[in-house]
Amino acid sequence: MTFGQTAPDTGKAAPKKLFIKTYGCQMNVYDSDRLAALLARHGYATVPEAADADLVVLNTCHIREKAAEKVYSELGRLRVMRDQRRSETGRPMALVVAGCVAQAEGEAMLGRAPFVDIVVGPQAYHRLPELLARSTREAGGQIDTDFPLESKFDLLPQGPEESPVSAFLTVQEGCDKFCTFCVVPYTRGAESSRPAAAIVAEARRLVEGGARELTLLGQNVNAYHGDGPDGRSWSLARLLHELAGIERLERLRYTTSHPRDMTADLIEAHGALPQLMPFLHLPVQSGADRVLQAMNRGYGRDDYLRIVDALRDVRPDIALSSDFITGFPGETEEDFEATLALVERVGFAQAFSFKYSPRPGTPGAAMTKQVKEAVRGERLNRLQALLDAQATAFNEGTLGRTLPVLLERPGRHPGQLVGRSPYLQAVHVAAPDGLLGRVARVTITGCHRHSLAGRMEPHGPITASNGIPAQPEEVVA
Ligand code: 5AD
Ligand code: SF4
Repeated sequence: MTFGQTAPDTGKAAPKKLFIKTYGCQMNVYDSDRLAALLARHGYATVPEAADADLVVLNTCHIREKAAEKVYSELGRLRVMRDQRRSETGRPMALVVAGCVAQAEGEAMLGRAPFVDIVVGPQAYHRLPELLARSTREAGGQIDTDFPLESKFDLLPQGPEESPVSAFLTVQEGCDKFCTFCVVPYTRGAESSRPAAAIVAEARRLVEGGARELTLLGQNVNAYHGDGPDGRSWSLARLLHELAGIERLERLRYTTSHPRDMTADLIEAHGALPQLMPFLHLPVQSGADRVLQAMNRGYGRDDYLRIVDALRDVRPDIALSSDFITGFPGETEEDFEATLALVERVGFAQAFSFKYSPRPGTPGAAMTKQVKEAVRGERLNRLQALLDAQATAFNEGTLGRTLPVLLERPGRHPGQLVGRSPYLQAVHVAAPDGLLGRVARVTITGCHRHSLAGRMEPHGPITASNGIPAQPEEVVA
């Protein structure tokens, strides 16, 4: 095969075509963007269809069973596509599996899908050009699932000059918490934080390129403890204060956080920083102490409620989102009802809920009291009915309110822009393109299943022409 090369492209050859399909969390989205930028240096241009690509990368997620199965069935489809392309055009297609399924499966993946060219784990992406080159020389699939000493952050390029209005920035990776249901500590490795100076520099670059909102990413983002330029270890709160000082940066968010790391300084930051949006994803998983303990979550129901109350004290308009698992081993009907009671007590604006899925190698999978599939499913349905009702009530509660909306992209219809409310709701509004990247006052006039409709207030955007926010929280009715 002739798809790889190590030296950056000289510009003479026609660009090779790259297609990346991303599964799972926002950290994978971030990694895919960086990977595309790296491969662009090696002569690859991104195309929208796998069928046109010389190189197809699946950036995979391993969090639940079905996610891994989806990768194998996608690989089956790609194999057919690749064979067809080769017989019709004579052109090869390299298949790369990256991300957490690659990390977890390693050799096993080449056993089950021997036609795959490269299997590369999430800490070794920056070595992909080298792996591609090796793959042209050597028969058989290449595997790199190391946790190398060099950091991929230092070696992956920073992405295009132009940034999206709302951009992601990974600040830490990995997890040492070992919740008994979760594969992340095994696939993403130990917790590690990037130095604060590197994050601030990347944030400034993103803002220069047009970003007005940054979402700090990490599997355990609030466990962040990076080296600060002052020689001290910086917490996430310290980092957020620093980033809030960047001119023209209107909004900050972070995800995914763990209740155990909701420290006092981080809670205070929600009261102190108007840029920090009043919307927090804080997974609770269960409302029953017994289950939380079996999950090794390191907090109880009351601890979670105390955090929610403290956040609401400093930021009364804060809305919460969460993750839930139903039917964790040993969960009784009574335990499940404790989860429903917690949902009633907190009131979530949005939530993700899943049936427990035993993941090989995790302690949960070896627990004796597995809950029957049908019971897991039935509890999930009941929980989702309650969470859906809360989400609908929350969305309908914004009707008639005037919210600051960050206008992010053109809508489907001419003259329409799509933005986000502080609560991450998509808002469609009639507004000129010139307002892209600005925060507008928008009165919410319609509430649909996945988005809101709104009307711009006549007094226009709330940001001054220099982009500095004019007390964003003041406009919230
Ligand atoms: N089964 C079901 N849900 C899971 N999650 C993680 N692992 C599992 C599993 N084995 C859910 C958790 C986590 C979210 C990202 O995925 O709720 O917060
Ligand atoms: Fe998984 Fe728990 Fe770590 Fe979250 S905190 S990544 S659920 S082990």
